[in-house]
Amino acid sequence: MSDIVLTNALLVLKNEVIKGTVRLSQGRIAAVDSGRTSLSGAIDCSGDLLLAGLIELHTDNIERHIEPRPDVHWPHRAAILAHDGEFASVGVTTLFDALRVGSLSSGKASYQPYARALASEIAELRAQGALRISHFVHLRAEVSSETLAEELATFTPEDRVRLVSLMDHTPGQRQFRDLSYLRTYLQKKRRFTDAEFEAHVTHLKDLRAAHGERHERTAVEKAEQLGAVLASHDDTTIEHVAQSAARGVRVAEFPTTLEAAHACHEYGIKVIMGAPNLIRGGSHSGNVAAHELAREGLLDILSSDYVPSSLMTAAFRLADLWDNLSRAISTVTDTPARAAGLEDRGRIAPGLRADLVRVHRLGGLPVVRAVWSQGHRVG
Ligand SMILES: [Fe+2]
Repeated sequence: MSDIVLTNALLVLKNEVIKGTVRLSQGRIAAVDSGRTSLSGAIDCSGDLLLAGLIELHTDNIERHIEPRPDVHWPHRAAILAHDGEFASVGVTTLFDALRVGSLSSGKASYQPYARALASEIAELRAQGALRISHFVHLRAEVSSETLAEELATFTPEDRVRLVSLMDHTPGQRQFRDLSYLRTYLQKKRRFTDAEFEAHVTHLKDLRAAHGERHERTAVEKAEQLGAVLASHDDTTIEHVAQSAARGVRVAEFPTTLEAAHACHEYGIKVIMGAPNLIRGGSHSGNVAAHELAREGLLDILSSDYVPSSLMTAAFRLADLWDNLSRAISTVTDTPARAAGLEDRGRIAPGLRADLVRVHRLGGLPVVRAVWSQGHRVG
């Protein structure tokens, strides 16, 4: 593969933005220089921004591709390729597929196991060179599920599991401490009646009581065995955060209150907030707004959560809010890389992977013009 030279670009580096030129060679960044080059064959970026490829730690977007309508099941291999291409097109070059482990059936809400099969299918396509971007597995461990332990047991250190998050979606606490949001969601999406909703809530509380604590320990042990970083999910109180810290959690996904986010920083835990929350100006389940945490300096990492394109859009919103483009771009590049223990990416610097995004700013809208993954044009 011959070298690629990108010039006349605004390079978004860790602490500054400079006019410069980047040379890519053998899938790596070979050189970063200020100024232009007149080298023939260099790609003129017309003054566009060049960012490190975006890193997404938590997305369940694959679920939308394997089940595009409730109970409509799509062939997995085709779904994975479409999902992979969708992320490449919005500037994401490293993706943690957040796969749910732990299934449950309750009335009209029935969630079947899929994580093991999908992880193998993604790995197979990856080995066959069919994927555009870099994929890792993030296991979302639903601690109240009866099947958690047996599903977790099927994963080994060969599965590229780099993140394990502890999920507890029992109604009446954390994400769903206000039941009215859950009621609206289930009645709209699954057509629950009031009686069905009440029975569902009781069932989930019983499951939590029967399995929750034991399964939390199982998931923590499994994360260690897999060499994965441990994440908490929807921490709400200072006690939740203290408990997370005691388990070795290093990343907190979507803390739901300002107090919890403050406590995370006291324990050295990085805070991830949803990009859709930032763009919409608040949480869809009534929890703390991402922009509030950003203003308080408590937002470290953005995640696209359920809207892939939101990662880039929200990073630029943050840049406006903070009046600092480098700092904002770090929330979707360098900080998630380091939080997940990835040393070979996340910045534009010699020796790192040639994962880059060319972005044109159209008013407030970031337009992705080109994407390279390990030096290959993928978007
Ligand atoms: Fe949640």
